[in-house]
Amino acid sequence: MPNTKDYIYLDNAATSLPKPPGVAEAVAGAICRAGNPGRSGHALSIGSARDLFTARERLAELFGFRDSSRFVFTENATGALNQAIKGLLRSGDHVVTTSVEHNSVMRPLRRLESAGVSVTVVPADATGTVDAAGMIAAIRPETRLLAVTHASNVAGAVQPVETIVRAAHARGVFSLIDAAQTAGAFPIDLSTLPVDLLAAAGHKGLLGPQGTGFLFVREGVPLVPLIEGGTGSRSEDDHQPDFYPDCLESGTPNSVGIAGLSVALAWLLKKGVDGIRAKEVALVSELLEGMRRIRGAIVYGPEDPSKRGCALSFNIEGADPGEVGRRLEREAGILLRAGLHCAPNAHRTLGTFPQGTVRVSPGPFTTRREIGKFLSAVKRIAAG
Ligand SMILES: Cc1ncc(COP(=O)(O)O)c(C=O)c1O
Repeated sequence: MPNTKDYIYLDNAATSLPKPPGVAEAVAGAICRAGNPGRSGHALSIGSARDLFTARERLAELFGFRDSSRFVFTENATGALNQAIKGLLRSGDHVVTTSVEHNSVMRPLRRLESAGVSVTVVPADATGTVDAAGMIAAIRPETRLLAVTHASNVAGAVQPVETIVRAAHARGVFSLIDAAQTAGAFPIDLSTLPVDLLAAAGHKGLLGPQGTGFLFVREGVPLVPLIEGGTGSRSEDDHQPDFYPDCLESGTPNSVGIAGLSVALAWLLKKGVDGIRAKEVALVSELLEGMRRIRGAIVYGPEDPSKRGCALSFNIEGADPGEVGRRLEREAGILLRAGLHCAPNAHRTLGTFPQGTVRVSPGPFTTRREIGKFLSAVKRIAAG
């Protein structure tokens, strides 16, 4: 088994590492005592249900929303996005999205096209930033949803979600934010942002285990469950319950992972997302500055670090991104992700399709020393 101490981990946009203190212990503890939550009614079942409730309450606190029942646990951001998109859209509906979406948004939308949903993809600019006015102008009478990523997982560009969501709200159109790259790393206040649906992973910026994620569903959004079955509630009825979160949470949940996520959420609440954001902007600034000084390095996305999330894509002139990634690992123990990042349209937008880019993504535990080592390694590779 590789030892994480031998590496510099800069792949937090894929999944965060390390996790905050206590997360691993919480998972290990839960696997030894997790009864089936909300099912059996014995001590261990109730204990597990409490873990879920605590985690849900912490999500609600982190995102500034009073009713934790509107946060539905999913297995990842993809599960949350599929539930949001396929649970809402029907034949004849129109949806507006962007050219920098992840396949977890685009593939469900492409699937729905064959079921009579029409899709408008608004192109982002060369930095991977979409123009809010362009999205708003694409709204038609039959538009049901505006779906936008909060920050591109390729270019890093933060999108003008506030303007987009408010415009959708004012026109009676539902809005969906893919917060996979921002939840836990970027302040999001659902008490002031009138977004209808927000999907995120638990294992990226929320610093929890893989196999966790959530979908926030505001009251009044008519979502049809993608999966129906046992919820531990209303067991006398062979119809799916209609109340939250049970209506969208069928089957035994990942209570072991959610116990770990809960500890990560407590850590984030204590630390404060604003502080994490400030640290990550400083690290990205340092990366941008360092990369600018490396001859042959091409950096994609906005120049201003405050307009970026934590994912930074680059290429080295004349070099294959996959090979650059492999050399960074082999020669400097640096772990990151090269290729298309499950977002081919984002690469078409940046002009980096089909070869892709090398993506470096620091996280809350990344140090300046690690950034320095990364920059030195890139410089050596760029020098040939
Ligand atoms: C913008 C974006 N959306 C969705 C996803 C899918 O997340 P998950 O792997 O948790 O399903 C990712 C993962 O990289 C992402 O970056």
